[in-house]
Amino acid sequence: MSTLNPMDARTSMGRPPDVLASDPMSPFGTGLVREIDEQALDLREEIPPTPLFEGIVGSSGAISRVLAQVMKVAPSDATVLITGESGTGKELIARAIHKRSRRSRAPFTRMNCAATPPSLIAAELFGYEKGAFTGANQRHAGRFEVANHGTFFLDEVAEIPSETQVALLRVLQEREFERVGGTQSIPFDVRVIAATNRDLGTAVQSGQFRLDLFYRLNVFPIHVPPLRERPEDILPLARHFIDRCNTKLSKAIRRIDRRTAQRLEAHDWPGNIRELQNLIERAVILSDSDTLVVQNAWLRADSDPIPSLRLSIVNQQREAIAVALAQSRGRVSGPQGAAAKLGMPRTTLESKIKSLRIDKGRYRREASGCPSTL
Ligand SMILES: Nc1ncnc2c1ncn2[C@@H]1O[C@H](COP(=O)(O)OP(=O)(O)OP(=O)(O)O)[C@@H](O)[C@H]1O
Ligand SMILES: [Mg+2]
Repeated sequence: MSTLNPMDARTSMGRPPDVLASDPMSPFGTGLVREIDEQALDLREEIPPTPLFEGIVGSSGAISRVLAQVMKVAPSDATVLITGESGTGKELIARAIHKRSRRSRAPFTRMNCAATPPSLIAAELFGYEKGAFTGANQRHAGRFEVANHGTFFLDEVAEIPSETQVALLRVLQEREFERVGGTQSIPFDVRVIAATNRDLGTAVQSGQFRLDLFYRLNVFPIHVPPLRERPEDILPLARHFIDRCNTKLSKAIRRIDRRTAQRLEAHDWPGNIRELQNLIERAVILSDSDTLVVQNAWLRADSDPIPSLRLSIVNQQREAIAVALAQSRGRVSGPQGAAAKLGMPRTTLESKIKSLRIDKGRYRREASGCPSTL
């Protein structure tokens, strides 16, 4: 019998924990079982598995809204643009759309534009003819050709160089392409799903991404929220990854240490679900008992380097822009303007000022108030 007060022992899932003292499989004596019971959540009892929707775990309002959009758009042939931070599950969502579409029996072809050298992206997308460039020893089918009748997942679409953006727009509008070095127009029947973890609106403003291509891709936008905005999904996801690691690594983790559960729920997960997945795998590998324990230091170590680097770059940019605006008395354009001083296009600086929330009017006001100091 457990001495726990069920109210104290309730978890975020709202269920009292399993009473382990009666577990004949337990390697512990009864007293020790009670102690561990107070510190651990039983996976089967307290974190029931969420029904999987095409491998997607989660029942928070945020992910449910995304899945409702997936259900709506999948049967149509509309182009979808999936946005969201790295590791939020954009590819999983793209695959779910494919599986729920009439193209599900045809291939799901994927290309990661960030992993392909910019100069080779056009050849990868559209293929090339023999002799099109040095090293093109034979005709090569591009991803559009391979994906025919299926779904083409264009991942990290913001990384496509501008000259290829023009070609891609034309191909998407005309539904036919030419291989690099070729003259024959090849019709295709492909549903395109694009994804990016960058803010395409800002990329458009700064001239890095074509507005017309953005509109062409953004027919049906789906935003996948970061894990920190759906904390209810953290423990069900943890359970899902523990189950998978148990099978993969022949382990038998059945509980999560209570403080570990609190830590997981409190962490802000800058690497999102991928970070949680990797952390669980590490913890399962290191575990010698049937209870999963995650050290606080692992969470801090995982989340520190990138955000702090990002923060220092942002601060440096903010400082450089502030200095230039002060010297130009708040003027952005013109030969004496801040953009010229920083050596960047006016539109790029305008969008940076906006995204960094810099009050450029302040520099104008300061200039008119104390002109002698400038
Ligand atoms: N809701 C979920 N349920 C189960 N597993 C998930 C879920 N979301 C993501 N994952 C898993 O997390 C990992 C990262 O997901 P995915 O590759 O889809 O993210 P992404 O948004 O495409 O990331 P990136 O921008 O870095 O490419 C994958 O292993 C995926 O299977
Ligand atoms: Mg991805």
